[in-house]
Amino acid sequence: MFRSHTCGELRLANLGENVTLAGWVQRTRKMGGMTFVDLRDRYGLTQLVFNNEVNAELCERANHLGREYVLQVRGTVAERSAKNNKVATGDIEIIVNEMTVLNVSATPPFTIEDETDGGDDIRMQYRYLDLRRNSVRANLELRHKMAFEVRRYLDAEGFIEVETPVLIKSTPEGARDFVVPSRMNQGQFYALPQSPQTFKQLLMVSGFDRYFQIVKCFRDEDLRADRQPEFTQIDCEMSFVEQEDVIQMFEGMSRHLFRTIKGIELDAFPRMTWHDAMKYYGSDKPDTRFEMRFVELMDVLKGHGFSVFDAAEYIGGICAKGAASYTRKQLDALTDFVKRPQIGAKGMVYARVEADGTVKSSVDKFYTQEVLQQLRAAMNAEPGDLILILSGDNANKTRKQLCELRLEMGSQLGLRDKNNYSCLWVVDFPLFEWSEEDQRFYAMHHPFTSPKPEDIPLLDTDPGAVRANAYDMVINGVEVGGGSIRIYDSELQHKMFQLLGFTPEKAEEQFGFLMNAFKFGAPPHGGLAYGLDRFVSLFAGLDSIRDCIAFPKNNAGRDVMIDAPSAIDDAQLKELCLNITL
Ligand code: AMO
Repeated sequence: MFRSHTCGELRLANLGENVTLAGWVQRTRKMGGMTFVDLRDRYGLTQLVFNNEVNAELCERANHLGREYVLQVRGTVAERSAKNNKVATGDIEIIVNEMTVLNVSATPPFTIEDETDGGDDIRMQYRYLDLRRNSVRANLELRHKMAFEVRRYLDAEGFIEVETPVLIKSTPEGARDFVVPSRMNQGQFYALPQSPQTFKQLLMVSGFDRYFQIVKCFRDEDLRADRQPEFTQIDCEMSFVEQEDVIQMFEGMSRHLFRTIKGIELDAFPRMTWHDAMKYYGSDKPDTRFEMRFVELMDVLKGHGFSVFDAAEYIGGICAKGAASYTRKQLDALTDFVKRPQIGAKGMVYARVEADGTVKSSVDKFYTQEVLQQLRAAMNAEPGDLILILSGDNANKTRKQLCELRLEMGSQLGLRDKNNYSCLWVVDFPLFEWSEEDQRFYAMHHPFTSPKPEDIPLLDTDPGAVRANAYDMVINGVEVGGGSIRIYDSELQHKMFQLLGFTPEKAEEQFGFLMNAFKFGAPPHGGLAYGLDRFVSLFAGLDSIRDCIAFPKNNAGRDVMIDAPSAIDDAQLKELCLNITL
């Protein structure tokens, strides 16, 4: 046997046993005639001891071990005199009597310990070394467990996992596609799937009834902390269901994950309409760990001679409980925060409720105490509270700015604890989104999403008002999943394409295969997809989904370890009939 135990396994119960361990040298310390080596593997860290007086030759060899050397050692388990309660094996050590250096290592470019001296770039370049660190490995172990529990739950519910192709057809909707040139079909391209959407719908036409797949998806979009160009979905679809069936099934899956992985029992998830989410939180993925809901203040604050508010289309406020003690400096910093170009507010008005109930605001000269008391009543503010107000000539834009301010205040006041989970469903999304720039409607979710049956007549008269049978699962302000009930009637699907500006020829060219399939008895169906990376990040309390992906891309979409993307040979280009015109 190569090893008898792992480096995380031995305890006082093993005292006196002769054991064989294998692993990497994390660090070596020389103290008097003794040399201590921390030996690491995936399971933990064990202290090895070499005593110069007992075996000088072996101790000398230990003194020459470098970081990350690979060792096999034999020795006896002994009780430590100085115990280390920070590691699971901290009560014992191994008195080594035999050592084989299995491999040497170049000096690693950063220390491979919990607290590392390596910056982001260098750790990404040497990701395989970064993955030796506990924190990063723990994220991947969590990811494995979650994927495993997802499969367990869905299997028990009768879902079967079916793989769908990765080389598919490019479609113009949604994000930008990654494309792959075809050598055998010169001048033509495959696209990598943004999701297996059409395939899972075809599987429903095939009668599979309950499908899922843990699957890579690819989107060529600008990257953020919660976006990667290739990411993983838990993609699901069900036949003969209504929205409520899908919601129940997948709320059940989330609850299963919270229960089995985190040991948390959750109540039924509340539902919020998209309209309310936008009105009260300025976002379709509200962070409901804390209240601080928007209050519209046009009635209270307009018409008192303050020109900024008088000219505004929207005035909204939030009440930060207990924050009246904010200093002038803190308030100025908040004003600078909302004025940052990414947020774009012109300014911020504040009002404090003093201990005696009077309201002091930054625009006192325009408002009497009577009006300020109306403001206080509207905001439900008490002594010690701070009211923050934004206004603007575009209601949606101003709500988005107020959303950023709300989240910032939530963070500053410690209301966004990563260990506190607040889940909800956002429902009743609009079917379409109007683009001022392109002067056309886009599908808010995707073109296969069904309108609410009662709103179908509006498709002809007021498409912008049509609500969709679509739902998102939001946890702590993160959209972890989303889906919809699909259109299964080819007439209605044709109409949808028409409203989205497809000519019949274009619709046929892009989606003819699906329209054709729908002629052969498509069942009513619907589903959803979770972002696995986002779900794992939430459970691990990560700031970026990168940290739960073994080999992620950086913000420029590059894998700096393998140096991709990269140029290809002229011969390859020629074979593919491609010309680079940079
Ligand atoms: P949607 O586009 O909402 O729906 O994607 C589903 C979920 O995938 C995750 N996600 C991402 N995660 C990381 N990086 C990205 N770039 C990224 N983009 C999306 C999110 C999101 O909620 N086919 C439909 C689902 C359906 O209708 O069944 C779809 O793909 O967590």
